Amino acid sequence: MRMFDIIKKKRDGGQLSDKEIAWFIDGYVKGEIPDYQAAALCMAIYYKGMTIDETTALTFAIRDSGERLDFSNIDGLRVDKHSTGGVGDKTSLIVAPIVASLGVKVAKMSGRGLGHTGGTIDKLESIEGFCTDISVSDFVKIVNETGIAIVGQNATLAPADKLLYALRDVTATVDSLPLIVSSIMGKKLAADDDCIVLDVKTGSGSFMKTVEDSKNLAETMVDIGKRAGKKMCALITDMDRPLGFAIGNSLEVIEAIETLNGNGPEDLTELCVALASYMLSLAEKGSYDECKQNVLRVINDGTALNTFANMVEAQGGNKEWIYNPENFPKAKYQSEVLSEKSGYITSVNTEGYGVASLLLGAGRNTMADKIDFAAGIHLCKKTGDYVEKGEKIAVLYAEDESKFAAAEKCFVNATVIGDQKPCEMPLILDVVGG
Ligand code: URA
Repeated sequence: MRMFDIIKKKRDGGQLSDKEIAWFIDGYVKGEIPDYQAAALCMAIYYKGMTIDETTALTFAIRDSGERLDFSNIDGLRVDKHSTGGVGDKTSLIVAPIVASLGVKVAKMSGRGLGHTGGTIDKLESIEGFCTDISVSDFVKIVNETGIAIVGQNATLAPADKLLYALRDVTATVDSLPLIVSSIMGKKLAADDDCIVLDVKTGSGSFMKTVEDSKNLAETMVDIGKRAGKKMCALITDMDRPLGFAIGNSLEVIEAIETLNGNGPEDLTELCVALASYMLSLAEKGSYDECKQNVLRVINDGTALNTFANMVEAQGGNKEWIYNPENFPKAKYQSEVLSEKSGYITSVNTEGYGVASLLLGAGRNTMADKIDFAAGIHLCKKTGDYVEKGEKIAVLYAEDESKFAAAEKCFVNATVIGDQKPCEMPLILDVVGG
């Protein structure tokens, strides 16, 4: 086979065979196919798309490009939840302990933030001592003992995705449906979970900007997961607004703790209760409504918070910080963003909020950048709220005062204030395969 012919076939709208796709992935991981040819193929896929069979073949080839994890030593069904990436999305920190508190194991591999979206691993590392880099055998041991562990992606898991994602990031080919599906599902299928609930984000803070595209993405991922023998469902959820009020690593962990205590923001609580209930019902713990009752119970009686604290301790973290979040170090400086006029917040560009947080030091521009865990944004007003001129709409946090000007400009540009109160949009827009 020749890479030239594969690129040309896709460029001209042809359908690649399973063998051609597997040959490309194998050659790329071995370093036999150069980046420029892989980039050309990604761009051809971006423009011409892929059939469901091609997307499945690409997903399976990415899954098989490295080690496949074996969780057979974990007792009982394992369930995972994956978000396609958003701003203020700390749901994993909340739903994983809830589900584990109700007897379903959560052996979770999570990612770091890149660009405007945050990552669960960075958030957890803001807890003193918390270790996200542990061996598979320790991981399995912790899951068996506490019901839950959350670690970073194993270096040998789906290496083709690591290479392809870095390439797509610099060749404007991230937001392609077959490439997103194969990237996410290739990694998910390399781990050994029985059930997967996907949180597919839609809107200005996500990779898919329209509900139609997000639904298509959700249906394709659910279809491929089922082809691989997994129990699947996907929620399509609004990312035209950040989730909750906190954006930034330790700010988000503190908000997650408040939510596990039953005092979380309404939108975040609603989504976490729904995700956890779907995870439990996929894992055969009862009907959705029965699971929801149990979810509310373990939040209200403190069990879910204790499970989270036990996981933190088992992974080397300081458990006291979970019960006393005032221990999280505070940012050295804070700056208030005041409204320039009176009116309703009619819409926000959620990606702009994510970038503002990044500019404050809460995220990375490159994987080598060091994160400032205390940096970020606390929102005082959200879409639909009325603000008076001069009223506080957010507080920015940073270690370095010089970061405020650019971040505030970005935040203000992303906030639209007008005379009309906007229609209230549901947070959960659709469910696929539930
Ligand atoms: N998250 C991933 O892991 N891959 C993508 O392509 C997009 C989001």
